[in-house]
Amino acid sequence: MPDAPVVVAVDGPAASGKGTLARRLAEHLGFAYLDTGLLYRAVARRVIDGEGDPADGAAAARAARALEPGDLAGEGLREETVTQAASAVAADPGVRAALLDFQRAFAAAPPGGAPGAVLDGRDIGTAVCPDAAVKLFLDASPEVRAGRRVRELRERGSNAIYAAVLRDMETRDARDRGRAVAPLAPAEDAFVIDTSTMNADEVFREALAHFDARTTSRK
Ligand code: DC
Repeated sequence: MPDAPVVVAVDGPAASGKGTLARRLAEHLGFAYLDTGLLYRAVARRVIDGEGDPADGAAAARAARALEPGDLAGEGLREETVTQAASAVAADPGVRAALLDFQRAFAAAPPGGAPGAVLDGRDIGTAVCPDAAVKLFLDASPEVRAGRRVRELRERGSNAIYAAVLRDMETRDARDRGRAVAPLAPAEDAFVIDTSTMNADEVFREALAHFDARTTSRK
């Protein structure tokens, strides 16, 4: 029987650098990559498009059950209204349950027959893949993360205001960390990297060294 796929969980709050790291690790290792935040964003988009309320758990869970792969390539998934709504729908246990199978199936049988999968999100190491071979948790101060997000938005042509971005980020962090089901938190066995004063190359090198140490010791 072929070896079971190697699963890498990358969790952390918004703008901690987890997306950049996860994509880069997947590319370097030849693993499949899943941005699980996109699933919650696509559910939020469906609720908004149906003129529903993202805080209405039953409507959100219906949208999650109706999700189709094409929704992940939908327009405007990174808009601020969708961002906040994604965090709201993510608090509903029915939504989380509906998305669990898709994420676990991706990790168990990575598309394209890849030998492993990198999943980034908030609860990969704690709830989706608690047996992941490698668990990384990225963090940074709210001020640093808001500064990164402002730069990113300005590069895309928006005249983002730092104070507003910081406030929105803190609202979302509080909701993601405070929800009853699968809140944002490092797994007990996660390797935590504070990226506040690191650049993307430094984060990548540190994460890869941890990956190598974990996977070599398992052989
Ligand atoms: O990673 P992101 O910013 O695209 O995620 C959008 C929202 O989705 C986030 O505020 C919380 C939710 N989310 C989650 O609850 N669990 C995940 N594994 C990924 C995202």
